[in-house]
Amino acid sequence: MENSKVKTIGILTSGGDAPGMNAAIRAATRRAIGKGIKVKGILKGYDGLIHNEIRDLNGRDVSEIVRRGGTILYSARCMDMHTEEGLERAVKTCRDNGIDGLVCIGGDGTFRGAIALSRRGINTIGVPGTIDLDIACTEYTIGFDSACNTAMEAIDKVLDTSTSHERISIIEVMGRNAGYIALWCGIAVGAEDILLPEIYDYDEEQIIDHIITTRKKGKRHHIIINAEGIGHSQAMAKRIEAATGINARATILGHMQRGGSPTCRDRMYATVMGAMAVDLLAEGKSSRVVAYRDNDFVDLDFEEALKMTRNLSEYEVDLAKALSYNISGD
Ligand code: F6P
Repeated sequence: MENSKVKTIGILTSGGDAPGMNAAIRAATRRAIGKGIKVKGILKGYDGLIHNEIRDLNGRDVSEIVRRGGTILYSARCMDMHTEEGLERAVKTCRDNGIDGLVCIGGDGTFRGAIALSRRGINTIGVPGTIDLDIACTEYTIGFDSACNTAMEAIDKVLDTSTSHERISIIEVMGRNAGYIALWCGIAVGAEDILLPEIYDYDEEQIIDHIITTRKKGKRHHIIINAEGIGHSQAMAKRIEAATGINARATILGHMQRGGSPTCRDRMYATVMGAMAVDLLAEGKSSRVVAYRDNDFVDLDFEEALKMTRNLSEYEVDLAKALSYNISGD
């Protein structure tokens, strides 16, 4: 048994679930047990922490979950964590259960909760889990790869029927206010237009001109990937159909993007991150976030990490446009 600075850890998943969260839970659990640390699974994220919904986890409890989507610990968005009373109750639950370290898996909302708890004396480590990839301190978040692959396969299918009917298809993908899923999927399927909340100027005329130009050149479909942060895909389809005289349909992919078995990359990276979170707690570290930067897994100060900002890659955005405009029908 190693000489760990913590004796009992809690693991929770909070916010939107993401494929790969189970791999992180499994890795954290087994890594901890290997170090002689007891593990408690906190159900339904911070909600379960506030309401003391906790169960012991042993190595067998996490068998075969590495390939399962969702999270065996369930997840929730918890408004009570924004109140002093909620935070106090969460701290009390940790104390009552002898939890001296918390692994918090989720997005930026989850991290804000973890920081608030660490300020109140609970050792916390964050693991980035969100399909949106919208955590600036890390180039990888658990679930993004799986969600992109799921969305890409769905878009490929819409593309088949869209081509058969020579239609315009507006396909809305998730990502809250971030355009990463839209950009990656748009490039991966060769979309004619990709609308990104970070840069979209709402110039529909430009899209309409693009459709008319590519049609004249013989293009039989027009795929527009629209990010959730822009939304209104149905109304957009109606306007574009009226303006072009070409059949247009909107497809909103929705929550199917969050489900399904994680990709190999999500299983692997989530495993490393889950294990690293436990290593950090065992070393006596707190208020850190595990991140992937420059091809390496690192840990960063939580508060500093959350202040970081990042823009979409200009090169990728330009490339998406260049490939679409330059080769369409010429
Ligand atoms: O953060 C993940 C995410 O799927 C976003 O892409 C989306 O905006 C949001 O969660 C949807 O949340 P909910 O499942 O609570 O409706």
